[in-house]
Amino acid sequence: MKLVCVVSSLALALSCGAALAAGDAEAGKAKAAACAGCHGADGNSTAPQFPKLAGQNERYLLNQLKAFKSGKRQDPIMSGQVAALSDQDMADLAAYFSAQQTTPAASDPEAVIRGEEIYRGGITSSDVPSCMGCHGPDGAGNPAAGFPRLAGQHAQYIEAQLLLYRDGKRKSDPAAMMRNIAERLTVDDIKAVSGFIPGLHINEDAIK
Ligand code: HEC
Ligand code: HEC
Repeated sequence: MKLVCVVSSLALALSCGAALAAGDAEAGKAKAAACAGCHGADGNSTAPQFPKLAGQNERYLLNQLKAFKSGKRQDPIMSGQVAALSDQDMADLAAYFSAQQTTPAASDPEAVIRGEEIYRGGITSSDVPSCMGCHGPDGAGNPAAGFPRLAGQHAQYIEAQLLLYRDGKRKSDPAAMMRNIAERLTVDDIKAVSGFIPGLHINEDAIK
């Protein structure tokens, strides 16, 4: 009897997972009007403290919206934004923003040499792995794994996030992946790599 219960509740959990609706980009477009003031109508924010969402991978976007909602990732602005969103709304918004094209950005010339060294080679002396191992040589991230795209993102936003991970204040990273890396970065390392990343460029035509 006991075994039957375990098996049936497992089957229930699996069927619930499969029933989760896929995102609809068209529906997401209408819902994205609420986000435009900060993130831009197509997800290309112009203010450097607001992250670009355009072209970010769908799985990552959905994970972050859920993390804001559950409180794993805390931000006074975004917590309010997600409070009234349903699972379907979040899936639709993630589908819409991921289908937009990121506007290109430039690296800070002062940061580019040290920043690229860290991005591509890590820092051996302090056990920092290369960023490109997970975020890709061109900053495209890894959509299947949910590792975020970084190419074209604002330096100011990247720097702020690395400091939040470093201080243990952003906890949305599975297995503390980014917290473990950021705690080994100095403030100067963070400045350098954040200044380099925006200029990473993805050849979108090659992907399609
Ligand atoms: C009033 C400004 C504002 C509005 C409106 C807003 N956001 Fe945000 N959003 C922010 C800020 C600020 C952050 C960065 C938070 C942080 O530092 O953790 C952010 C972060 C995010 C992130 C994380 C991006 C990343 O790269 O990790 C997502 C996803 C997001 N917002 C989606 C949305 C969606 C969807 C809406 C509309 C329903 C929306 N936001 C409305 C200000 C806003
Ligand atoms: C082992 C894989 C891995 C490595 C190596 C890695 N990252 Fe990450 N990174 C992730 C994952 C996974 C996330 C998303 C975590 C989350 O949901 O909060 C992330 C998130 C980020 C974010 C936040 C993006 C956003 O839009 O908010 C930044 C910035 C970042 N990483 C920079 C770096 C830098 C710089 C390095 C190298 C020093 C690096 N990462 C190395 C896996 C990795």
